[in-house]
Amino acid sequence: MPLDQPPATPFPLFEEWFADARRAEAADRPFSATAMTLSTLARAGSGWRPRSRVVLLKEWDERGFVFFTHTDSDKGRELAACPQAALVFHWPELERQIRVEGTAAPVTRAEVEAYHATRPRGSQLGAWASRQSRPIGDRAELEAAVALAEERFAAVEVPAPPHWGGFRVAPERMEFWQGRRSRLHDRLVYAVDGAGWTTELLAP
Ligand SMILES: Cc1cc2nc3c(=O)[nH]c(=O)nc-3n(C[C@H](O)[C@H](O)[C@H](O)COP(=O)(O)O)c2cc1C
Repeated sequence: MPLDQPPATPFPLFEEWFADARRAEAADRPFSATAMTLSTLARAGSGWRPRSRVVLLKEWDERGFVFFTHTDSDKGRELAACPQAALVFHWPELERQIRVEGTAAPVTRAEVEAYHATRPRGSQLGAWASRQSRPIGDRAELEAAVALAEERFAAVEVPAPPHWGGFRVAPERMEFWQGRRSRLHDRLVYAVDGAGWTTELLAP
């Protein structure tokens, strides 16, 4: 899809680029297509401090981009206090970057449970054992918590922990960056304007 004849919404272009990234995903880099940097805002004194970390894209559609996490982790607390979020995908083998800015909202419990059910049992138990982003004394403490979870759910399916959930980032601005020769890269921006999307090209 040429960036100077953009589709009316960002979604067909995201679909195409994400499919290309999945095809390019190497066996030794299994999360290279779905890894995205998530930035949130944390209160710092009288202002705000941006904070970033990598999470995995697990679902997406026109409503937004979904990742799963602990809801009482730092990022979970930060999004509860301020739902403004930004995502960055970087696919170096394609010389592409996609930036997403928007508002995060928790996904439904049904979506959390449906995704949790697809995870390996070890990851399900880990979600119970780890109080993500809280200090621990040592590795043994974490392993003891896993052993407790194993004992607790020994004979049953592991349910989704109440402190585990997901967020959907609904995009309000998306930028597609395609590397070109001589640093004359393409930058195409979509922004929500009232009912629809507008587009503009930016200088690289
Ligand atoms: C490749 C990669 C994928 C990750 N995926 C997730 C994820 O999907 N969900 C998650 O909670 N943490 C994920 N993490 C860990 C986060 O980067 C982060 O360490 C953790 O969520 C705690 O962040 P917080 O303290 O800001 O809440 C991933 C890390 C890497 C390197």
